[in-house]
Amino acid sequence: MITNAAVLRQFGKPLEIEEVELLDPDPEEVIVKVAASGVCRTDLSIASGHLGNVPLPLVPGHEAAGTIVEVGTSVSNLKSGDHVLAVWIYSCNNCEYCLAGRPNLCKNGNTSLLNATLPGGKIKIKDKKTGRPIHHGSGTALHSDHAILNQRNVVKIPTEVPLDKASVVGCAVMTGVGAAINTAQIRPGSTVAVVGVGGVGINIVQGARIAGAEKIIVLDKYDSKLQAAPKFGATHSIMMDDSPKSKLLSITPDGVDYSFEATGNYHNMELAYSLIKPGGTTVIVGAESPTASISVPALDLVGSQKTIKGSWYGSTNPRYDAARYLNLYMSGKLMLDELISAKYEPSQINQVFSDMESGKIIRGILVH
Ligand SMILES: NC(=O)c1ccc[n+]([C@@H]2O[C@H](COP(=O)([O-])OP(=O)(O)OC[C@H]3O[C@@H](n4cnc5c(N)ncnc54)[C@H](O)[C@@H]3O)[C@@H](O)[C@H]2O)c1
Ligand SMILES: [Zn+2]
Ligand SMILES: [Zn+2]
Repeated sequence: MITNAAVLRQFGKPLEIEEVELLDPDPEEVIVKVAASGVCRTDLSIASGHLGNVPLPLVPGHEAAGTIVEVGTSVSNLKSGDHVLAVWIYSCNNCEYCLAGRPNLCKNGNTSLLNATLPGGKIKIKDKKTGRPIHHGSGTALHSDHAILNQRNVVKIPTEVPLDKASVVGCAVMTGVGAAINTAQIRPGSTVAVVGVGGVGINIVQGARIAGAEKIIVLDKYDSKLQAAPKFGATHSIMMDDSPKSKLLSITPDGVDYSFEATGNYHNMELAYSLIKPGGTTVIVGAESPTASISVPALDLVGSQKTIKGSWYGSTNPRYDAARYLNLYMSGKLMLDELISAKYEPSQINQVFSDMESGKIIRGILVH
């Protein structure tokens, strides 16, 4: 099949919409007509080269929903016309992590994600002109009018859910709500700080609200983000300037029970750690460059029995939690309409990157 996709050929250069060929699905694969794909900061960090040398050329995109148009011969629980939501970790059900009930850490899923291939190392996107392979960014390549995916990278969803709303569940919601609920396991009545309230951070706020946090303090460098945060559940906001910590301590004098970093900047990771009280937990969600490190005061970590955790894909069971989080939207507990702050044509993907950088949008989606 021939389709249009956003292709990254060189780090730091704009993406271009190109005609590409998708090879026919293998028995366990499906082809999805993408209705909408959300643009995550990770797409921008891949495109700028911030996340290191991922193989190029590639089609980015790991957050989308759409309709099945073709299924491989062994796919039995999906058919043409089904509505689906994509998840960016394939869980093989067979590796050490899958067997231990930690499918977001699936060895095979994470290998294909890092190598920008389908599971098993397959590359099934070709340059229409030259026939050369084009990688599947994040293992999914969803900034495309059609995508070829393993059946375990999709979840069937009810047709009543608008596909544009469902798209953002695939990363922003799973990562943010999951970090609050699964990774941190926020307890009712606790205090929370979230550094960076873009697409992912605002979902940490929603997750903290759903978990019953008492105070949810947001910190960001853009007033537009701080203004939007209360409707998602934030109770206090702090503009990032020279003294964010002292401002936070004026709200909760000992610090917070849980802090989250969702900007992808190591200074902010260290800041997030400095905001927790003894016994508290810091959850790092932002994706920094592979060469960056963070440092924390060693005796404080021990003497105050603090915890630092990374959170990968919200510590979710991807297909199971995607359906549950979508139910929270259907029952009015999770806000997706307000999360999607702008819609764009696929050809405007570079514009979405710049609107994200300048703080204009919370989450922008491409409508295919
Ligand atoms: N751990 C995971 O599984 C996972 C999954 C998805 C995304 N991510 C990462 O999470 C991070 C957030 O992604 P996103 O899509 O929400 O990005 P985003 O650009 O929408 O949000 C980032 C927010 O941080 C704010 N910010 C940036 N620099 C700041 C600073 N110095 N001080 C205060 N605020 C600052 C921005 O204004 C913005 O509101 C990225 O690093 C992304 O790569 C991680
Ligand atoms: Zn993402
Ligand atoms: Zn596995």
